[in-house]
Amino acid sequence: MTEILVSDKLIHLRNARISYVIGILEGGIPAHLYFGKRVEKLNPASLLRAASLPGDFSFSMQNCALDHTPQEYPAFGLGEMREGALIVRQQDGTRTADLRFVSAEVIDGKPRLAGLPATFGDDCKTLCLKLHDELLALDVTLQYSIFEDCDAIARSVLFENRSEHALHLERCYSLCLDVPESRYDLITLSGAWARERELIRRPLVMGQQGVGSIRGASSLQTSPFLALARPETTEEQGEVIAMALVYSGNFTAQAYVDPNHYTRVMMGINDTDFQWTLESGAAFQTPEAVMVYSNAGLDGMSRQFHRVCADHLVRGRYAHAPRPILLNNWEATYFNFNEEKLLEIARTAARVGVELFVLDDGWFGHRDSDNSSLGDWFVDKRKLPGGLSALAEKVHALGLKFGLWFEPEMISPDSDLYRAHPDWCIHVNGRTSIQGRNQLILDLSRPDVCEYVYHAVADNLAANAIDYVKWDMNRNFSNVGSALLPAERQKELPHRYMLGLYGILERLIHDFPHVLFESCSSGGGRFDMGMLHYMPQTWTSDDTDALCRCRIQYSTSLVFPPFAMGSHVSAVPNHQTGRIAPISTRGNVAMSGCFGYELDLNRLPEEDLLAVEKQITRVKELRQTLLYGDFHRLLSPYEGNDTAWITVSPDKTQAVFMFTRAMALPGTFPPMLRLRGLDEGATYRIMETGETYGGDELMNIGLCVTLPGGDAASVSYTLKAEAKE
Ligand code: DGJ
Repeated sequence: MTEILVSDKLIHLRNARISYVIGILEGGIPAHLYFGKRVEKLNPASLLRAASLPGDFSFSMQNCALDHTPQEYPAFGLGEMREGALIVRQQDGTRTADLRFVSAEVIDGKPRLAGLPATFGDDCKTLCLKLHDELLALDVTLQYSIFEDCDAIARSVLFENRSEHALHLERCYSLCLDVPESRYDLITLSGAWARERELIRRPLVMGQQGVGSIRGASSLQTSPFLALARPETTEEQGEVIAMALVYSGNFTAQAYVDPNHYTRVMMGINDTDFQWTLESGAAFQTPEAVMVYSNAGLDGMSRQFHRVCADHLVRGRYAHAPRPILLNNWEATYFNFNEEKLLEIARTAARVGVELFVLDDGWFGHRDSDNSSLGDWFVDKRKLPGGLSALAEKVHALGLKFGLWFEPEMISPDSDLYRAHPDWCIHVNGRTSIQGRNQLILDLSRPDVCEYVYHAVADNLAANAIDYVKWDMNRNFSNVGSALLPAERQKELPHRYMLGLYGILERLIHDFPHVLFESCSSGGGRFDMGMLHYMPQTWTSDDTDALCRCRIQYSTSLVFPPFAMGSHVSAVPNHQTGRIAPISTRGNVAMSGCFGYELDLNRLPEEDLLAVEKQITRVKELRQTLLYGDFHRLLSPYEGNDTAWITVSPDKTQAVFMFTRAMALPGTFPPMLRLRGLDEGATYRIMETGETYGGDELMNIGLCVTLPGGDAASVSYTLKAEAKE
């Protein structure tokens, strides 16, 4: 049962499995006392003693006692010598804050966060911990929502200026968690284009460590996620505390170990390019951060994140529905296509069972390469003489849905839009604009630009029968400046950009509820919980090589479930790596996500096309399990030559197991692998081999896997539970 118990000095949030405890210290300082496995009884005296300031508070203040106190929301400048979560500048230019307890209110459910993506749900309770700074006349409400069905707490902070003067938020993170020890490994996901979210695990060391982005997007280079795992924690067992930010822009996720081996973890908007002027009477809401606790290893951590994504974050018609198997023309044609060429691909796609044809980049303006036309969202009649509607009609006539690519946040210097509105892009007057992929970024901090962007997409969706949109974003911020913002608000631009973008997306999904949106940013450059709130799937990476995808999908699954990951079979030699992997392996890896193809099926050898047809039939049969089952990582490509995972349906009657070996090794025993997530008491038949096994046998002794020869070899098995007698 989920409850928030508020007593004189303690506040205890708990559900059936986790507890979070806050203490109100002498003088009203909110201290962090515990986050972990559920506890039944608390001894307030001991808990408070452990966190308390030595002696009388005013005396301790002179001794900077806050420097040793585990706090819920530490502010800069008041005896706190560690980096804190809050810096507020007041009228006289000073930047200290002193937040004291006012009240603890408990509400059923969870309030929405105005203008921001956030988790939702009725089956949760929310603590509104109200704090106040008397000198600043600033109200701060720390919001904590604890869910009934997952071991997660969502946090955010609301600031309300009650003074007569403006206040300036120079830093206001979403979360601070003071953990009274440092015996942890830090896990983060960092990489690059086509190498997104590499799993990085290293012991915490004294001092500052972490990840962040000042690119204007959560980025290809790192993810707004961080986990503290005990050194002995494995996939299957051990403690983990982890957090992810529900935000797609600049962020920080950091851990600081102090000389007493206490660890302070903080997460929120990166303050390198952030500041917010809070006028008298105005409010500011931080993005939300989701914290999870697991004592069942990294597998348990992922289970919690996956549940949050599935049941409390993703919305719309496709949230729990089978995702259409798509074919995207990007790697098949790049910019070089016409209607007939597209239809030729679509016809074969329809014949083998594909359900959605997606027209990628190059259909608008005069875009024959990546150096023009972004912003001019009008069909290129040279390529598509009948326009989008004729193409959509012909694709629909083949029995396929029709999808379209946009990159709405961008503007090419060679575009009518730029010629008409050169000041609509992010730029600094007097400086040569730095281009990325030959393009500039539209200034979404401006309402007029947001209106244009909304209509650029909405008008096309209204005029044509479009069932799916791929929303791309292919460069990061530079020369950050806005023509409209006054000087003192220029540092608001990156966050205003995100608010503008979220506003556009909210309108679009509301106005076009039948459209399936897929987020993309040069691959997985904005794969975060913020985007997932609007678009239920994300293009995981531009790297479609099956072996690279083993790594990328394996580590992406730490936070994100299979239904969030776009994953396609592409041509060989692979366009990113030059590797030749068999069609079976390409299919086996890709089917653990939103499945599709990224190639010209007409160029496949006949036997591969037959294999494609079989893959599609199989995915259609299994996709509910593949997308929405429990995903368990079994063998890590970061630790060796092999990758394995299994997805088990919630009722455990069906599972799909995948094993890939990167490099063939002669003279080795066939791998024996213990499976997870099955019903111990059930008997499973492997449909591909006809063999039967006990669930307990598969999980305790293991499955002996026979691999085909050659590099990049793989098997994928369907396990079905036999009816119990
Ligand atoms: C980057 C995306 O990640 C690709 O899939 C493709 O859509 C290109 N952009 C098109 O320019």
